[in-house]
Amino acid sequence: MEIKRLHLKNFRNYKEEDICFSRGISLIYGDNAQGKTNIIEALYLFATGKSHRTRNMNELIMHGEQFFYLLLEFEDKNYAQKIEIKFEKGKRKELFINEVKKDRLSDLLGIVPSVLFAPESLLTIKGSPGERRKLIDIVLCLVNKTYLYNLQKYNRILKNKNILLKQIQAGKQKPEMLNVWNESQAEAGALIIKERVALTESLETRMDRLLLGISDGGENIKIRYKTSIVNCDNVSDGILYTLNENMQKEIEQGICLYGPHRDDLEIDVNDKNSRIYCSQGQQRSVALALNIAILEEMELRIGKTPLLLLDDVMSELDEKRQKYLFDIINDKQTIITTTEKTKFMESGKEISYIHIKNGKIIDQKEYQGNIPDEIQKQRW
Ligand SMILES: Nc1ncnc2c1ncn2[C@@H]1O[C@H](COP(=O)(O)OP(=O)(O)OP(=O)(O)O)[C@@H](O)[C@H]1O
Ligand SMILES: [Mg+2]
Repeated sequence: MEIKRLHLKNFRNYKEEDICFSRGISLIYGDNAQGKTNIIEALYLFATGKSHRTRNMNELIMHGEQFFYLLLEFEDKNYAQKIEIKFEKGKRKELFINEVKKDRLSDLLGIVPSVLFAPESLLTIKGSPGERRKLIDIVLCLVNKTYLYNLQKYNRILKNKNILLKQIQAGKQKPEMLNVWNESQAEAGALIIKERVALTESLETRMDRLLLGISDGGENIKIRYKTSIVNCDNVSDGILYTLNENMQKEIEQGICLYGPHRDDLEIDVNDKNSRIYCSQGQQRSVALALNIAILEEMELRIGKTPLLLLDDVMSELDEKRQKYLFDIINDKQTIITTTEKTKFMESGKEISYIHIKNGKIIDQKEYQGNIPDEIQKQRW
């Protein structure tokens, strides 16, 4: 898979622009607040259907406009393909894949997969358990639709059970009503835990190898899936047992307290929790190793190399880690944003340079593929 061209209309600070990408590294450079991350955000939207910066789609529409429209042209298995996303205020997002309208945004998943590494990626290491669950869930949803549907089902169960717990607390419902919800929660929850545990085991092996390379062999890594669910032969039985044991507690608090929505991943470096004990530099290395491990794992599971999106991270890595990253991305299509163009000149790689200023491309050089002769007439 290789992305070729992105067309943006009324997206963030882009009125109407076209960007062509190289098959190797595309370096998007420019001063602060010119629109570099906005491009990363648009590409990430094609991978996940969501922005990595906001849940509010209205924020993505250019101020003063009513809609945005994005078109991505890419090549997969030697076929030229395209995906279009349109969002109009007050309406649902619209998705077209090769001109065919799709009802669900989840139809996107796995088509143009990407891995994003940004300054905020450090939150996966330093932040709350929710940040780590979010990352793991994104990866699993991208590689496995069944996981996505099951996760959506689990979240619906939690929502309904929370309402019921509050009603029981207020004396409007009987506690026995919980049994059916607990059983559903146990069934859907077990699938989530099993998939997450399997993924963390694979990531651990990969990260251990990667981190040894990044840190000159001084550090080893362990990832533990931490859950409050009682350990049973069968995960679903374990969840049900835990829920039944703690029914009164959940009623008292009026909220679902046990299950994969409360789990965490603990990433240990040299047997110490990286969230608490690692230095800033070590945490960066761990975050880098984690993202590369995710890239490898997605490559294996989907059977195509994800696009690597590196938003403003090069300047935060020392020379050795930069070099390590460059070696890894050797054969992968990569989009890098930076404020300092010169830093990358000496890397010796095939790079196309895209200069951005105030939502406009003012220079685009050394593109290795075909730049379309004329820009297609757009649907909107
Ligand atoms: N909905 C919108 N309509 C118009 N402009 C917007 C909208 N949302 C964001 N912007 C503008 O986009 C710009 C920020 O873009 P972006 O985050 O891509 O910057 P950047 O080049 O990555 O900067 P930095 O180097 O600081 O990370 C800001 O000028 C902001 O005002
Ligand atoms: Mg930025």
